[in-house]
Amino acid sequence: MNLQIAKSIASALNNQVEVEEIEKLLEKPKHVDLGDFSLPCFKLAKKLGQSPQLIASNIQKNLTCDVIQSVEIVGGYVNLFLNQHIITQQVLKQIVKEQHLYGTSLTRKGNVVFDFSSPNIAKPFSMGHLRSTVIGNALANIAEKNGYNAIRINHLGDWGTQFGKLIVAYKRWGHQQTIEAAPIEELLKIYVKFHEEAERDTTLIEQARVAFKALEDKDEEALALWHWFREVSLEEFKTLYQLLGIQFDAYDGEAFYNDKMHTVVNELQEKGLLTLSEGAYVVELEKEEMPPCIITKTDGATLYATRDLAAAFYRIQQYHPEKIVYVVGHEQTLHFKQLFNVVEKMGYDWASNLSHVAFGMILKEGKKMSTRKGKIVLLNDVLTEAIATAKQNIEMKNPNLQNKEEVAKQVGVGAVIFNDLKNYRLHDIEFSIEQMMQFEGETGPYIQYTYARIFSILEKANGQLGEMTYQPLGVQAWPVILLLEQYPRVITIAYEQADPSIVAKYALHLARSFNKYYATNKILSNDDRQNSRLALCHCVAMILEDSLALLGINAPKNM
Ligand code: ARG
Repeated sequence: MNLQIAKSIASALNNQVEVEEIEKLLEKPKHVDLGDFSLPCFKLAKKLGQSPQLIASNIQKNLTCDVIQSVEIVGGYVNLFLNQHIITQQVLKQIVKEQHLYGTSLTRKGNVVFDFSSPNIAKPFSMGHLRSTVIGNALANIAEKNGYNAIRINHLGDWGTQFGKLIVAYKRWGHQQTIEAAPIEELLKIYVKFHEEAERDTTLIEQARVAFKALEDKDEEALALWHWFREVSLEEFKTLYQLLGIQFDAYDGEAFYNDKMHTVVNELQEKGLLTLSEGAYVVELEKEEMPPCIITKTDGATLYATRDLAAAFYRIQQYHPEKIVYVVGHEQTLHFKQLFNVVEKMGYDWASNLSHVAFGMILKEGKKMSTRKGKIVLLNDVLTEAIATAKQNIEMKNPNLQNKEEVAKQVGVGAVIFNDLKNYRLHDIEFSIEQMMQFEGETGPYIQYTYARIFSILEKANGQLGEMTYQPLGVQAWPVILLLEQYPRVITIAYEQADPSIVAKYALHLARSFNKYYATNKILSNDDRQNSRLALCHCVAMILEDSLALLGINAPKNM
C-alpha cells in the first residue's frame, strides 16, 4: 500500500521525485481527522524548487490512485484518505486466502547465521543470556518470515582457563552425585570455593594452570572431566530451551574451534598482520582507534577473540551466509568491532556482512540484576515463578479450564519473553513479574487474552465464515484494518532494523485497537454484516497468533 501510494504521488509530480523517497516521507498522522497517510511537502520544496503549497496542490490536482478516496491540504501537508470499502475488502480477502503466509516473503533468500544465547558451561544462565536467547530467536523467526534460511548457533562458552580451576576444585571438593543432581548450582559452588581458597593457598592457581594445560594437551582424565561438566551443564540449558520452545541447529561452542584456529593464525602471520607486543601476538588496531586484538598469549594460548575469528571463517565456509548476526550484550561491542576489523584487514569483503546486534541490561527497581557473589538471579526460578503466577490467575479467572498446566506454562513463559521484546533492544529493561503478568497493559498475557477471546467468538460462530461480503465495518474497525494492512511492512522493517520490538509493539496495537472495536460492536448479531465482522475477527486472531509466534510466544486458544 505504501508503495502503491508513493508511486501515484510520484507520477502526480511527473516523477521528479523518486518513489522510494516519497515512500520514506509518508507519515501516519497523529489524528484520524488528518487522514490515513500524510506527506510533508516542505521536505520536497528544496528539491523541486517550489513552495510546499504548490507541491501539495499539484499532488491534489493530478493524483489518481484507486485506493485513495480524497485528498486534503493542511499547511504544507497532503493528507490522504483511503477508500475504506475497497481496502477492507482487499485486506480481509487476502488474509483469509493466504492465512499464515500473509506477510511471508515467497522469494527464497540466502542463509543468515544467528549466534545467540551462548551461555557458559558450569555457570548460571544469566538474565543477559535470556535476552540474547529471546532476541536472537525472534530475529531468526523474523528472518525466516522474510524468506531467509536462519541458522541458529549456540556458541557455548565451553573452553578457557576456568576449566583448569574447575578440574582442581572438583578433585578437591566435588562429588559426582551432588553435581549430577544440580549440575550448575554445584559446579558454581566449587568454582566460588576455589577462588575463596586461592586467597589462602596460593598454589591453587598454579595447579589450575597445570590442569588447563593438561586439558589442552588432551590428557585423558582432564578431558573426561571437561566432557562431563559440559554434558551435565548442557542438559540443564536444554531443559530451559525446551521450556522456551527454542531449538538450535548447532551447539558448536568455543571448544569446537580448538583445531581450527591455527589456519587463521597462520594466515594472519603470512599477511604480516601479527605484531609481538609484551610477549603476545596481536593485531594492531591503532589507526582504527581501538586497543590491539590479542590473538595468542606468551605461552601460545589462544583467546576468546581467536576462537571467534576461527568461528567466523568456519561459518562462512560451512553455510555461505549472507550475514552473520551476533546477538550479544552491548558490553561486548569493542570485542566485535575488533573482530570485524581484523577480518577486514585480512582482506575479506564479507567483513561487512558481520553484524553485532547489541542489547541493554535487565534492571530490577532501577538496579542491575547481577550474578555477582552468589546473588544470582536464576532464569529457572524466574520462569517457575511466572508460571506459578499464571496458574494462580487461571485458578481465579477460569478454574474449569482444561490443560491448565500447559496454558500456565504458555502464559508465564510468554509474559517473560514479551516483557523483554516489547522494548527497543538497546534500552535497559525493568523486570517485575507482577507487572509482566497483568492482563491489562503492555503485556504478553494481554495479547494472549485478546486472542483467546476472539477464538471463543469464532467458536460460537461454529468457525464458519460463510459467504463473505466484506461490508464496511465502521469507524472503530478502520484502524484495525489499517494495522492488518501494514503487517507485511512491519515484518520487513523489523528484519531490516533487527528489532523484534517493532513486531511486539505492533501486536499490542493490533490487540488494543481490536478491543476498542469489540467494546462497541457486537460481533454475533444476525445481520448482513455478521460475516464481515467474523472475517475481521478471524484475520485479527490469525495475525496476533502469527506475530506472537515470531516473538517465540504461544497463543493458547482458551485461557
Ligand atoms: N559466552 C559468551 C558470554 O557469555 C557469549 C558468546 C557470544 N558469542 C560469540 N560468538 N562471542 O559472554
